Amino acid sequence: MTVNRQILLASRPTGWPTEANFKLVESPLPRPGENQVLVRSHFLSLDPYMRARMDAVKSYAKSVEVGEVMVGGAVGEVIESKSPKLAKGDFVVGPLGWQEFAAADAAAVMKVDTKLAPPSVYLGTLGMPGVTAWVGLIDICQPKTGETAVVSAASGAVGSVVGQLAKSHGCRAVGIAGGAKKCEYVVKELGFDACIDYKAGNLHHDLKDATPNGVDVYFENVGGETLDAVLTRMNPFARIAVCGLISQYNASDPYGVKNLRSVLVNRVKMQGFIVSDRMELWPRALNDLGTLFAQGKLKYRETVAEGLASAPAAFLGMLRGENFGKQVVRLV
Ligand SMILES: NC(=O)c1ccc[n+]([C@@H]2O[C@H](COP(=O)([O-])OP(=O)(O)OC[C@H]3O[C@@H](n4cnc5c(N)ncnc54)[C@H](OP(=O)(O)O)[C@@H]3O)[C@@H](O)[C@H]2O)c1
Repeated sequence: MTVNRQILLASRPTGWPTEANFKLVESPLPRPGENQVLVRSHFLSLDPYMRARMDAVKSYAKSVEVGEVMVGGAVGEVIESKSPKLAKGDFVVGPLGWQEFAAADAAAVMKVDTKLAPPSVYLGTLGMPGVTAWVGLIDICQPKTGETAVVSAASGAVGSVVGQLAKSHGCRAVGIAGGAKKCEYVVKELGFDACIDYKAGNLHHDLKDATPNGVDVYFENVGGETLDAVLTRMNPFARIAVCGLISQYNASDPYGVKNLRSVLVNRVKMQGFIVSDRMELWPRALNDLGTLFAQGKLKYRETVAEGLASAPAAFLGMLRGENFGKQVVRLV
């Protein structure tokens, strides 16, 4: 193997991105330097945050420059090691980018246990999305037994873990997802108590039915009208973790929240967070998630696109909600 295939950001999108914003190129295989490893990625993760990195606007993380390899997490096999910490054959996860091979600092990747879970799970339930669910729910919202916890994008990588964690903390877990099939999966497979299909057109009414005792915890993944609807169900001293606002990522005219009064009158704590700011919580979160996973208490589902060239289309599909569970790309 002498050739690496990579996907670059070819141009910045305005509004919805298209496949023309990406470019597939071939380049020489990278060589690992001192304390580095050469990794052959087996699965690439596609995540909503990548949409923001395509823009030049100021955010919590640096944008991808036009002509650079798209950022992204991947899991793969060490095929050459110049680090005493990792050996050939180890599986690692890390920010390896949209490419088939990467030379990475050994300190920037994490060894994973492929006996506990298949490699791709370290991009979802036992990876960044799982830790995101844990930080937002456990650290920020602090759920208590008997409370009602609602999560949007409930069948997705983050949302599926939020609801299952809420159940393991004795809560009534209510999901919001797009379509009857996703809702059926959320209740029957993931074990939520209820799930509302926001596309069915009765969001306010269905939310009221599903939350007879009001809402104590809301894990926000989508924003827009969904947030306004959940705000009408808040109990006094409820907590909201603002994790993501995917309905707004391509919006030219952002939705203006109307029901903020509920935050005041119910003394709601509402906090945004970025999982990479909370590195001190990752070991505890991964330990908890790994224990639940080993006990069969964390179910997951994946949508797998085949081959690096399919990554742009799969990414755009995920932004439209076409993924069902964690979106990954199989590279090997
Ligand atoms: N703060 C952090 O550190 C952090 C870290 C990771 C992820 N996040 C955020 O967490 C959220 C979920 O990410 P994920 O990786 O788990 O993705 P995901 O839920 O697996 O996939 C995205 C889902 O978003 C939903 N969606 C798309 N457009 C929507 C719209 N207009 N209205 C409502 N829902 C829409 C779709 O589900 P439906 O078919 O159900 O609509 C789609 O399947 C995102 O907002 C992401 O940015 C934040």
